[in-house]
Amino acid sequence: MWNFLAAVPLAVSLVNPTFAVAQEAPPSQKSLPEQIVDAFNGVFGVHPGARANHAKGVILEGTFTPSASAASVSKAAHLQKQKTPVPVTVRFSNGSGLPTVPDSNEMPRGMAVKFTLPDRSQTDIVALSFNGFPVATAEDFKDFLLALGASGPDAPKPTAFDKFLSSHPTAKAFVGAPKPLPVSYGTLAYFGINTFKFTNASGVGTFGRYQILPVAGEKFLAKEQVSKMGPDYLVDEIGERVRRGPVKLKLLLQVAGPGDKIDDPSIAWPDSRKRVELGTIAITKTTTQSHTADTLLFLPGAVVPGIEAADPMIAVRSAAYPISFARRFKAQ
Ligand code: HEM
Repeated sequence: MWNFLAAVPLAVSLVNPTFAVAQEAPPSQKSLPEQIVDAFNGVFGVHPGARANHAKGVILEGTFTPSASAASVSKAAHLQKQKTPVPVTVRFSNGSGLPTVPDSNEMPRGMAVKFTLPDRSQTDIVALSFNGFPVATAEDFKDFLLALGASGPDAPKPTAFDKFLSSHPTAKAFVGAPKPLPVSYGTLAYFGINTFKFTNASGVGTFGRYQILPVAGEKFLAKEQVSKMGPDYLVDEIGERVRRGPVKLKLLLQVAGPGDKIDDPSIAWPDSRKRVELGTIAITKTTTQSHTADTLLFLPGAVVPGIEAADPMIAVRSAAYPISFARRFKAQ
């Protein structure tokens, strides 16, 4: 089971003066994205320079080479045949708002990719190492985080989070899903979870969800290896792996089938759905950027012509990430 509750004793926000800085307007006057960022801060606290979620990460660089099939689904510039590969910046992260969380924590991991197109414009993919989100809507996600934040070790049983899980079976399944620890950030599969609409040069539209699959295959630690892993084992490992040679992951588009929900990211589509290969991400360089206080902002809604957000959660995410970004530096 993912150890969400381990985060709650660290809900320092209630006593953390920096959190008070974030609480300027009464909650009723705040937008939903701002309320969600407050709720993250309520679970994890506010840490100077750090993201409200996925606070600890590692930044690398590489290239993206589109597959021949990519242009069949989208006219997006980076999905067309290229003279030279498209530069990418990749950030792998731990799913927690605690910048010092040990890499052996059992929360889902993140992979964010920023593509720099030939005209210098940029587009991003922000994905998680689990195929499905705990809840269907951003409003429910706010309630999930508020319930988690109210369920510290001293909270009376059943806690607000117990109650939330018993009335939200998908969230219960998400929290309870067994998730072995990865050998490497480069041996995990990542899922875009939210649905986008892709349009090709002939105007044909396709609804799909990103999948990013490691070419080395998925590899997990055996139980007896877990206790031997240092607190930064994933950060250290990916650096060593990249120094040995390019770390490759395939970017695929899982295409919606009849009846698949476009606006409910809590329901994974069946594995039998058609997948179109979009290309290969090759991570080739480490960087010296901070693991906890970089200045990058990845936006799930940063798209280019040929790709559009289809799931309404994407707009809420894209409004929430810049709020967290502003707080990263305000708290310093
Ligand atoms: C309503 C839904 C969601 C909200 C409000 C939300 C909010 C946030 C916030 C505030 C951050 C910190 C951003 C920053 O400081 O730059 C973040 C980071 C992140 N989120 Fe979400 N999130 C949501 C759903 C998702 C989903 C569905 C995924 C995966 C498909 C996801 C994956 C990530 C990842 C990987 C990061 C770290 C990005 C980075 O490395 O910069 N989130 N999220």
